[in-house]
Amino acid sequence: MKKFILGIESSCDDTSAGVAYGRKIVANVTANQDIHRLYGGVVPELASRAHQQNIVPVIEAALRQANISPQDLSAIAFTSGPGLLGSLLVGTSFAKSMAMALDIPLIEVNHMQAHILAHFIDNPSMKTPPFPFLCLTVSGGHTQIVQVNDYFDYKLIGQTQDDAAGEAFDKSAKIMGLPYPGGPLIDKYAKLGDPYKFKFAKPQVPNFDFSFSGLKTSILYFLQKEVKKNPQFVEENLNDLCASIQHTILDILFQKLELAAIDLNITDIAIAGGVSANSGLRERLKQKEESLGWTTYIPNFEYCTDNGGMIAITGQFSYLKGDFANNSTAASARKSLKV
Ligand code: KG4
Ligand code: ZN
Repeated sequence: MKKFILGIESSCDDTSAGVAYGRKIVANVTANQDIHRLYGGVVPELASRAHQQNIVPVIEAALRQANISPQDLSAIAFTSGPGLLGSLLVGTSFAKSMAMALDIPLIEVNHMQAHILAHFIDNPSMKTPPFPFLCLTVSGGHTQIVQVNDYFDYKLIGQTQDDAAGEAFDKSAKIMGLPYPGGPLIDKYAKLGDPYKFKFAKPQVPNFDFSFSGLKTSILYFLQKEVKKNPQFVEENLNDLCASIQHTILDILFQKLELAAIDLNITDIAIAGGVSANSGLRERLKQKEESLGWTTYIPNFEYCTDNGGMIAITGQFSYLKGDFANNSTAASARKSLKV
C-alpha cells in the first residue's frame, strides 16, 4: 500500500514541507524569508527565528494541499544536514516532536542526497534517469559532480575547493549592488545581454574539482577599475555583465562535467540544486544532447531550489528500506553524502 510521508526542509532560508504519496508529490509548500534581502545574504540567527515562525503554518498548508490529516501520515522525514545549525534545529526538533506525538517513524535525510533524489519524483513533465548517471549538484552551499549508482550508492567525482556555484552567482550580484539572492537576477538580466562582452578569470584546478573564488576577485577588481572611470558603468552594462558572468560560471561547470562524463563513459547527465533553476544552465545542458549525445535530466523548477517535496521523496525511499532514525538523532551543519 502506498504511504503518505511528510518531508520537512529547514536547512537554510526556506521553510518548506512536502507530502509524498508513493513517488508522487501531492503537496509542496515553501515560505521564503525576505528578511535576508536587507542584509545582502542569509543571517543565520534571523533564519532560525523565521523558521520558527513559519514551520507550523507551512506544515498545516502542506497537509491541507494534500487533503490529509496528520493521522494519515506513515512517517516524518526531515533534513538533518548539511546546512545552518540553527535552521536545521528548528526542523529537526519539530519533526521529532511530531513523530513522537503521532507515534510514527522518524526519517533523517541528507539535504544533498535529497536534491539528487528529486529526479525520482513521479511527475508527467520529468523523466527519471537510469543508474548509473552523473549528477551536477549546484546550490548555494555545494558544487559537486556525483556518480549515482543507486538510490543510496554514490561516488563523489569532484567538488568545489572554495565557493559554491550559487555563492559565485550571489557574490557577483552583490558586487554589482543587486539584492540577495542574486542568482535569479543574474539569470534574468543575462537573457538580455552579450555573454562574450567581458572576460573573467577561469581557474586551473586539478581533476574534476572546481574553484570560484578567483572569479569573484576578478569581477571585483575589474569593476573597481571601470567604476573609477565611469561611475555609471554597472548600470549602463548590467545586462552584458550578468550575461558574461553567467557564461563564465557555466564554462567552469561544463568544462569539468564534460571531462568527467568522458572519463567515466556516462552519457546520462542530471542537474540538481538551486542553481539548476538557471535558464542558461538548463539550455546549455539541453544543447549537449545533440553535440555530445547526452541524455539529460532536469527537475521542474519547484524541485530545484530547496523544497520539502525532495525531502519527502527521499523519506519514501528510506521508508521502503526501513531506515529509521531514533529519538536521540541530532542535526549537524556538516554532513557529507554517504559514499
Ligand atoms: O539549493 P538551494 O535552494 O539552497 C541551498 O541548498 O543552498 O540553492 C540556492 C542557490 C542560491 O545561491 C541562488 O542564488 C541560486 O541557488 N539560484 C540561482 C537561480 N535560482 C536560484 N542561481 C542562478 N540562476 C537561477 N535562476
Ligand atoms: Zn539546497
